[in-house]
Amino acid sequence: MSDVNLDKSPDQEPVVSDGGELADPVPARAHLTFAEMAAQGHLPMKLDPDAEPVIEIDNLKMYFPVKSSGLLRRTIGHVQAVDGISFSVPKGGALGLVGESGCGKSTTGRLITRLYTPTAGSMMFEGQDLAQLSPRELKPMRRHVQMIFQDPYTSLNPRHTVGTIVGAPLSVHKVVPKNQIIPKVQEILEVVGLNPEHYNRYPNEFSGGQRQRIGIARALTLNPKLLVADEPVSALDVSIQAQVINLLQDLQREFDIAFLFIAHDLAIVRHFCPEVAVMYLGKIVEIADRETIYGHAHHPYTQALLSAVPDVRQAAVGGRRERIRLEGDVPSPINPPSGCRFRTRCSLAQEICAKVEPPLLQIGSRHKVACHFAGELGAHPARPVTAGLLGVDDQGSPKPGETPQHFNLGPTFEKSWYDIGLQHMVSA
Ligand SMILES: Nc1ncnc2c1ncn2[C@@H]1O[C@H](COP(=O)(O)OP(=O)(O)OP(=O)(O)O)[C@@H](O)[C@H]1O
Ligand code: SF4
Ligand SMILES: [Mg+2]
Repeated sequence: MSDVNLDKSPDQEPVVSDGGELADPVPARAHLTFAEMAAQGHLPMKLDPDAEPVIEIDNLKMYFPVKSSGLLRRTIGHVQAVDGISFSVPKGGALGLVGESGCGKSTTGRLITRLYTPTAGSMMFEGQDLAQLSPRELKPMRRHVQMIFQDPYTSLNPRHTVGTIVGAPLSVHKVVPKNQIIPKVQEILEVVGLNPEHYNRYPNEFSGGQRQRIGIARALTLNPKLLVADEPVSALDVSIQAQVINLLQDLQREFDIAFLFIAHDLAIVRHFCPEVAVMYLGKIVEIADRETIYGHAHHPYTQALLSAVPDVRQAAVGGRRERIRLEGDVPSPINPPSGCRFRTRCSLAQEICAKVEPPLLQIGSRHKVACHFAGELGAHPARPVTAGLLGVDDQGSPKPGETPQHFNLGPTFEKSWYDIGLQHMVSA
């Protein structure tokens, strides 16, 4: 990391505020909102379609047992927090993971960093399946996959100095001699825009944005190849959000780190992530490159989520999407609806949606969607586009003599896909 020199202007030095707390650095753009900053400054990250995957997640599941009360504490059900998701993150790329509260985003992040052991599925990273590794085998792998947590107030131990917090991974993994830990910590603090002399201060002496920089510094110490960032800015003030996002972008470019970027805010995801996966009740319902998700989403749930985002570009050309209001609550992940899990809130739902689960079908070169009636907003087909492929009739009942066709349900994008207009496979 010593060859790194991220440009920092002198006005980024932390200053001590009246209360003794270290105030956030105040670069020239600090008072702009993220959208303003995005419009002016950092270019959105680009997708490299030829990049090799750094991680491939295949059919990953996490079922948490639900226990009965009383002495015996029998298992009476399972929370299907993550239920068979597949995706890949390209080397040096960034995949955004979005969806409503409780859909399984954090659980996915915690599975990838092996804070949880999955119920099923594989997570291939550098030829090894992270899902299968024992704690001893995991130790060297942990260096490469790190996590940034949502809340900078609870994720840092208040009794430890910044030096201890950021230096802990260096001691645990013995990557530098003991007498080199403090200089290394200081170097990393500088990289994340903090004053290296503040390594012996405590987290409560820092503001929210600075604490998140400490969390980022801790995640960076071991030069990870993949960073899981779980809502890394949602606890921060809007103007500070933009600074932290731009820091993450700088770091990503500088160190070629891949990101799984978990967020509620679709505006931030659009800026940071060239690819986006949308989750609903433990499943991925749509995954695509940025332009497709934001301009040509085919899943009714994605379309509803996007309709709630004030769209800078659409406003600029004089229009705004009409807001699609989702009726009802998200069903319980203990007993999710049959077929399509979104059907209880979907205005397009028909009989087939209750009978047959829609597969996450590749319908474009970088586009997968799980909906029987997939189509652009206002142009959903009247008949299910999946029926022929699945060997069922329009109501979802099996058609005598027909068997489901073979299609790609793996973590990556294939060179051929199912064209929902033509209703057959096409190649690039
Ligand atoms: N340790 C656990 N034991 C039991 N259930 C859990 C556990 N952790 C999460 N869940 C449940 O799993 C589901 C997914 O939770 P998760 O925290 O992954 O959602 P999320 O998408 O990150 O939500 P949010 O946006 O609110 O952070 C929820 O129903 C949650 O209650
Ligand atoms: S499969 Fe049916 S219920 Fe599910 S999103 Fe599509 S139309 Fe709606
Ligand atoms: Mg979460």
